Amino acid sequence: MPCPLHRNPITAVESPAVGVAIEGLSKNFGKLQALKNVSFTVEPGEIFVLMGPSGSGKSVLLKHIVGLEAPTSGRVLIDGRDAAAEGTLESVRIALVFQAGALFNSLSIYDNLALYPREHRLGTEAQIKEKVTRALQILSLENTAHKFPSELSGGMKKRVAIARALVMEPQLMLYDEPTSELDPVMSATNSEIIATLKDEYHVTTIVVSHDRELALGIADRIGILMAGELVFLGTPAEIKASTDARIADFFHPKIDLKNPRFKNLET
Ligand SMILES: Nc1ncnc2c1ncn2[C@@H]1O[C@H](COP(=O)(O)OP(=O)(O)OP(=O)(O)O)[C@@H](O)[C@H]1O
Ligand SMILES: [Mg+2]
Repeated sequence: MPCPLHRNPITAVESPAVGVAIEGLSKNFGKLQALKNVSFTVEPGEIFVLMGPSGSGKSVLLKHIVGLEAPTSGRVLIDGRDAAAEGTLESVRIALVFQAGALFNSLSIYDNLALYPREHRLGTEAQIKEKVTRALQILSLENTAHKFPSELSGGMKKRVAIARALVMEPQLMLYDEPTSELDPVMSATNSEIIATLKDEYHVTTIVVSHDRELALGIADRIGILMAGELVFLGTPAEIKASTDARIADFFHPKIDLKNPRFKNLET
């Protein structure tokens, strides 16, 4: 398949989309093996959804991609270059959309979006205004520019967090739980936004999520981590067809009052 062209959502400038390769990645914290020899690739312009129970290593894996953790062994390649090597993370524009949005409550939505380009001196105030306005437009948030985060619903805050990431003109977007704590309609809206950014701009996308509808609805491929191990890698159709009991229990857990899980949990 030819490499799709990434189109910068802010400037419309085209460049090859970037890919990510996780190669035999292991991470130990003392005796805890948080990641065990995990390997997969995220193709340029693809949406990869990483799922798995709480504590299975999803956030630790994301942190390796943005250079906040270093591997115990193995490596992460971004656009073919080792993420841990000097210069790699400066050469690829990566935006991470945090679960809680991480907006500054004392700043208006406009100023939240303008913060990164102002701090990094990415243009004059007029140029920054253009970028911020464009990002707000893409997400239909123009009317929120002068509001403050406390005036917005949870769903809108998450959308603002995505708009703020767009101002960074990302080639690679990482989302940590973009639909958690949202009602089903708002969750579907955010899934549509993520898929639209990929379809229209070929932003390579990695989503960490527990949301089945999101994963089955927008993922090109899904990886499932359990206790640090990648136990499944495949398309939504392959997940639906899987006969693996662990996958079935993760996707469709049955409430069992005769043998409740909380009585068997390790502490
Ligand atoms: N800096 C750290 N030091 C020690 N242990 C850590 C550190 N970061 C993560 N861990 C441990 O690694 C394991 C994986 O954590 P991680 O945050 O990746 O889980 P997760 O899959 O993102 O879970 P959740 O769905 O709850 O967010 C957990 O047991 C966690 O306690
Ligand atoms: Mg996490």
